[in-house]
Amino acid sequence: MGCMRALEQKYSRGLEGVIAAISSISCIDGEEGHLIYRGYPIEVLAKYSNYEETAYLLLKGHLPNKQEYDEFVKVLKENQDLHPSMIDVIKKFMMDAHPMDVIRSMVSLMGVFCPDKKEHTREAKFMKAIRVTAKLPTMIAAFHRLREGKDIVEPDSNLSYAENFLYMMYGKKPDELSAKVLDIALVLHAEHGVNASTFSAMVTASTLSDVYSAVAAAIGTLKGPLHGGANERVMDMLDEIGSLDKIEEFLENALTEKRKIMGFGHRVYRAYDPRAKVLKDWAYKLCEMNNNLIYFEMGEKIEKLMIEKVGKKGIYPNVDFYSGLVYTNLGIPRDIFTPIFAMARAIGWTAHVLEYLEANRIYRPRAIYNGPIDLEYLPMEERE
Ligand code: COA
Repeated sequence: MGCMRALEQKYSRGLEGVIAAISSISCIDGEEGHLIYRGYPIEVLAKYSNYEETAYLLLKGHLPNKQEYDEFVKVLKENQDLHPSMIDVIKKFMMDAHPMDVIRSMVSLMGVFCPDKKEHTREAKFMKAIRVTAKLPTMIAAFHRLREGKDIVEPDSNLSYAENFLYMMYGKKPDELSAKVLDIALVLHAEHGVNASTFSAMVTASTLSDVYSAVAAAIGTLKGPLHGGANERVMDMLDEIGSLDKIEEFLENALTEKRKIMGFGHRVYRAYDPRAKVLKDWAYKLCEMNNNLIYFEMGEKIEKLMIEKVGKKGIYPNVDFYSGLVYTNLGIPRDIFTPIFAMARAIGWTAHVLEYLEANRIYRPRAIYNGPIDLEYLPMEERE
């Protein structure tokens, strides 16, 4: 049987080690703990760049000159508003919906309300990538305010991408440090190779579907707790532990019972996640400014003990360990942590989609069939 022939080929559970694309967008060195975007180490981008410039770099492949940057930021700002019909729809959602379900649905709606939905040129796809990146913060903040019984705050085109998100969430301009730390978190989350959600976007786009369908698929994939969402659970874990003096016992019990400590370990990194290193310093500054160091002190103690206990197995803090602290200190509710990840990552998803489409071939893996063959078809009345 033809379907059994695949048995001779190697099966890799979860596609581990399978090369699914050739890409010049980012490179992860999991052994040494390095991450570069388009040739630039993320530490350098976190220090000198900002989210808008990094988004341009990822999407277009080079750092923009002044004119390119200004034009890109202008287009982003021009596309922050939601179509009035989209606002009507968001008002009709159940207010206890998960914000990830809301943004996945809203991105689908973008396909319905898109002015150039019938255009499939490369330029039109770039525009759609920029539009979805521009509108995600507006959708998240609008839904959050509506569920709190407050009026939607319109985007302010005088503010940066990060400032504007916090402004639309809370209705007031954020302080400098809060906006800076969010901006850095967005830079650090913008791209991370062919992970599950990026692959999802690429698979959808490889059928020559559209950019919005690809991003909606990616959001659905990111929603699962094995992908996005560990930062939310880091905060739940800190609450469960409760205080500094209970950490040692908690870790001892969890490791003995083979329970995973949230915010630690990674499929690719066997060293300290470079994004966590950058975010840790900024998380400290934010906690210090808010005079709220307890979570940070707990985090540091957990990190120290975990490295002593399991560091030799290659288990170190990942980016989620400190991003939860950052978002908590920005006053962001826990169910908005993963939507922020999506809003930062939309640029990585679309950069991969655009790159893959340059030499597209539909993704079509095979499965090894291990079911029966040659069964006899029985009429229904003769079946047990
Ligand atoms: N806490 C304690 N032990 C951990 C651990 C963690 N967070 N992550 C991995 N380990 C241990 C496993 O128990 C296993 O030990 P063993 O070899 O003695 O059985 C070993 O490390 C390998 O773990 P495994 O689950 O096979 O690694 P993976 O590559 O399949 O999984 C993650 C990677 C990220 C899913 C996993 O580390 C995890 O669940 N971490 C917690 C959730 C999290 O922070 N996710 C965000 C990722 S950015």
